[in-house]
Amino acid sequence: MAKINRNFTKLPGSYLFSETARRAAAFAAKNPGKKIIKLGIGDATQPLAPSVIKAMHDAVDDMAAKETFKGYGPDFGYDFLIDAIAKNDYAARGVDIGIDEIFVSDGAKSDCGNIGEIFSVDNRVAVCDPVYPVYVDSNAMAGRAGDFGADGRWSNLIYMPCTAENGFAPELPSEVPDIIYLCFPNNPTGAAATKEQLKMWVDYAAKNGSVILYDSAYEAYITDPEIPHTIFEIEGAKECAIEFRSFSKTAGFTGTRCAYTVVPKALVREGVQLNSLWARRQSTKFNGTPYIVQRGAAAIYTEQGKIECRKIIDYYMNNAKVIREGLIKAGLEVFGGVNAPYIWAKTPNGMPSWDFFDMLLNKVNVVTTPGAGFGPSGEGYIRLTAFGDSEATKEAVERIIKLL
Ligand code: MLT
Repeated sequence: MAKINRNFTKLPGSYLFSETARRAAAFAAKNPGKKIIKLGIGDATQPLAPSVIKAMHDAVDDMAAKETFKGYGPDFGYDFLIDAIAKNDYAARGVDIGIDEIFVSDGAKSDCGNIGEIFSVDNRVAVCDPVYPVYVDSNAMAGRAGDFGADGRWSNLIYMPCTAENGFAPELPSEVPDIIYLCFPNNPTGAAATKEQLKMWVDYAAKNGSVILYDSAYEAYITDPEIPHTIFEIEGAKECAIEFRSFSKTAGFTGTRCAYTVVPKALVREGVQLNSLWARRQSTKFNGTPYIVQRGAAAIYTEQGKIECRKIIDYYMNNAKVIREGLIKAGLEVFGGVNAPYIWAKTPNGMPSWDFFDMLLNKVNVVTTPGAGFGPSGEGYIRLTAFGDSEATKEAVERIIKLL
């Protein structure tokens, strides 16, 4: 008889965003007349930039002619996209990343979830708390997390609490992890990491032989010029870090799907380049992001594409400001939303975050994300996303102000 991966049965409930969507859908079904405003999952709402659309239309035409038709693409992405990434996202910041260190994929979520395959199951893993649930759940599925306890913690994971008290900056754990997940600008707290803070982690990982899995999906939302956009701006990071980037939030590709992961060749553990392991994994299990999508992604790096994407990011960051200021006016203690598209707010009077989620859904028909869904230290917080429509965002904030 086939045996199942029992690690899956240890996972509590459903995936966070599936649960929030389920509750919102159940409310909508019972209340068909109500206008629900969704500020929960960080999903783009603005159309793709015109340059992206034009490039994708042209790419569709390429597929229509024998001379330009494309079948399977290169395993790790087309040169036209990889070159643009290396030049614009790295060389322009003084960082030298080789084209054979960049792996184009269909999403940072997939890459963050899949990267664990190149690491042994007995690595000790550290995560921030609260944290993007994919890092935790994918390690639990692999059998690296241990058992899920009544306290909301996995027995084998090392939790690094990020709280208002420490400015949502994780501190070095007392037990040394082999793998360290970091995400800056942070999902869900909206906190950004300074060069000094990242240097502390790079030095720590280098000293201990740990590997940092750095999720930089929200770097385009950084407004402070002193904040690094890539961990590779920190000296020594190429020897200890892997970086995940996404076009989802940078250019509204949540439905289009395109991202990339940088695995430097200088990153070696047990005498093996991790780059070669990831290359082997990807070429075996992944057949590449569609040509049409990669053409669209490359258009983001044209002069016109950059202007258009900046406009969309500014639109979302204006929403962030509206949410921040509105929630402060409503009397909540508010964090994030300055270098990130997420606003992290304390619930009123210490209300449990799922209760506050339900209250906002039921009373003012606004969908948010409860902080507890991101980990035990997220309890007592709620997350709102700036990726909504601007009019709907204003209306949601007004409804919350009126309610509180
Ligand atoms: C979020 O809301 O945290 C993100 O949209 C989830 C994701 O990027 O997968």
